[in-house]
Amino acid sequence: MTPVRQIASAADVRAAIDGWRADGPIGFVPTMGALHAGHERLIERARAECARVVVSIFVNPLQFDRADDLERYPRTLAADVDACERTGVDLLFLPTVHEMYPAAPGCTVDPGPLATHLCGAYRPGHFRGVATVVLKLLNIVGADRAYFGEKDAQQLAIVRRLVADFNVPATVVGVPTVREPDGLAMSSRNARLLPHERVLAPRLYQALRKAAALIADGATDPAAITREATESLGNDEHLRLEYFGIVGPDDMQPLETIDGPALIAAALWVGGTRLIDNCLAIPPVRSR
Ligand code: PAJ
Repeated sequence: MTPVRQIASAADVRAAIDGWRADGPIGFVPTMGALHAGHERLIERARAECARVVVSIFVNPLQFDRADDLERYPRTLAADVDACERTGVDLLFLPTVHEMYPAAPGCTVDPGPLATHLCGAYRPGHFRGVATVVLKLLNIVGADRAYFGEKDAQQLAIVRRLVADFNVPATVVGVPTVREPDGLAMSSRNARLLPHERVLAPRLYQALRKAAALIADGATDPAAITREATESLGNDEHLRLEYFGIVGPDDMQPLETIDGPALIAAALWVGGTRLIDNCLAIPPVRSR
């Protein structure tokens, strides 16, 4: 394994990458670290499709709506460097907060109506912080292809719009969610789950799958589907459902009736840890 090149300065990253442009497409995987198999899948996909792969690790304060969440966010740099070396990353961009935000907050990106529902309704300013840092990172790296997980479906939809609306010359690639064998979506926050919480956590995906199965069977009323699917979460004192939404997969707006592909997305508090997940549902083809 060759040691991965680590750079903290945006100008140095730009200079290093500019030297690679003639080799072929530059792939970019932005992350907040605590890398797991989900991140690694993004890196592997970039590795397969690009001449060079750049990963960033930056725990972006602008997208945290709660100070305790920012403080408790897992930071595992040594293991992350190992993961980047194992997966053949060419460059690891590790900016400091000062490097990314040298001045008091100035311009930020308003993510618009895509951020109104689901996580956007419960985490004020979160997607403004995500859109702002993603635009900055894409400008710094100047990648040809940028890889994002479907695990964060609302984030992916916002990044797609951001790139289109601001004419960013990069192709956004969505990568399917990587899961544990029991269905729990891999997440850096899973490391915070206590053993009894870890046992409960897969119920989130089970509820989403239940809703998708109801839709596949012909159910069309989002309220009724939500009621039935969320019943399967049970009444455990360690579980608190934040939201369970059925929205259009591209516009993230709640559906009044289901007559086409639907994204089912939910946030569940398991003890003190907030988990999100989603699943695409396809209704049956109706004969007219
Ligand atoms: P982070 O949570 O570290 O995730 C980095 C990327 O990995 C995101 O695109 C996310 O969707 C993807 N990812 C996470 N878990 C995954 C899984 N189980 N399967 C597939 N992909 C997965 O998302 C962020 O960081 C930040 O908001 C960021 C985009 C870096 C901006 O700060």
